[in-house]
Amino acid sequence: MPTETTAYEAPMRRALELALNGPAYGVNPQVGAVLVNDNFEILAEGWHMGAGTDHAEVAALKALAAKGISPVGLTAVVTLEPCNHTGRTGPCALALVEAGVARVVFAVADPGEASARGADTLRAAGIEVVDGVLATEAEEQGRVWLTANRLGRPFVTLKWAASIDGRSAAEDGTSKWISGPESRADTHLRRTQVDAILVGTNTVLVDDPELTARKPNGELFEHQPLRVILGETKIEGNYRIFNDAAETVHYETRSIHGALAELWARGVRHVWVEGGPKVASKFVKMGLFDELLVYQAPMLIGGERTSMRNLGVETMSEAIALEFNEVRLLGNDIFIRATPLKGAN
Ligand SMILES: NC(=O)c1ccc[n+]([C@@H]2O[C@H](COP(=O)([O-])OP(=O)(O)OC[C@H]3O[C@@H](n4cnc5c(N)ncnc54)[C@H](OP(=O)(O)O)[C@@H]3O)[C@@H](O)[C@H]2O)c1
Repeated sequence: MPTETTAYEAPMRRALELALNGPAYGVNPQVGAVLVNDNFEILAEGWHMGAGTDHAEVAALKALAAKGISPVGLTAVVTLEPCNHTGRTGPCALALVEAGVARVVFAVADPGEASARGADTLRAAGIEVVDGVLATEAEEQGRVWLTANRLGRPFVTLKWAASIDGRSAAEDGTSKWISGPESRADTHLRRTQVDAILVGTNTVLVDDPELTARKPNGELFEHQPLRVILGETKIEGNYRIFNDAAETVHYETRSIHGALAELWARGVRHVWVEGGPKVASKFVKMGLFDELLVYQAPMLIGGERTSMRNLGVETMSEAIALEFNEVRLLGNDIFIRATPLKGAN
């Protein structure tokens, strides 16, 4: 009976690909699963389509049943440890036990409070469990959901557009448009993958942004993130952020912890902070960010309106160390994805 973990890498790669068919937003993770025989041939595939729908393992078992193949003695290869709890759907660990699979291979452990430890259930039922296959790839792909569930707060992405000298607006406060059309299209597409977009009160007052996810032709994408305003200033209902294209909440507070806790309770697992610099700097100062997306444009603006305000960095040794995860040209701009350097801050 083959148990070398490398043999499961090809089916796991396929499971990771399948996982991406599910929505990137929402309380549930993107999960993919395949059922393979002893020759590592994929007999059935499944993925999770979001809260309330079949989990990936169950979807794969159903696809197998539809082909009239018995699951007994097969191996289930799943991107995430099979869940152990009964939510709107039954526990996957139990479904796999009842199906009679011989082995379950997964990439990363489930950090969820209620859903974790499915592997124990499987082992207790005499099923062989192999974990950690393509764990690095699965961690990277699932970083938003995994990080949010480990930390018990939404994953925070900071996003801004800046001139090459790091300015986010001109002296009069205007910032339309620093980045080019390709960057803006990329931003809109990424907005469809998050649960919420947050801005400070001043950005609403100065820019009057709609903060929706739109296609280049102006049409709205199907999924619209929750729009969140943070700050004590009252804002009249005639601002575009209150139009009926998406839901909006105004937390009339400056408490970032409070806002994140409220968002978590509403099911938000990924929040995009789109500025302005004052609010974004507070998230950084408090160490409450997981990822940075910067669209850097080939222009100079100069002046005081920098992308980040005072972060409390008095000397170079206190600078907040990041690493670049992605750097590429996007139209005439440079797109940068950076994350805090582990262990450095
Ligand atoms: N280039 C870009 O990507 C980009 C993106 C967005 C905005 N902008 C530009 O940035 C400018 C607006 O940004 P901004 O920095 O002035 O304002 P902002 O960050 O949008 O809003 C600042 C306000 O948010 C409230 N707030 C809520 N929580 C806070 C906290 N924890 N700490 C501090 N303040 C908190 C405060 O007002 P209260 O008194 O209401 O509590 C504060 O005055 C505009 O010129 C806009 O065009 C550029």
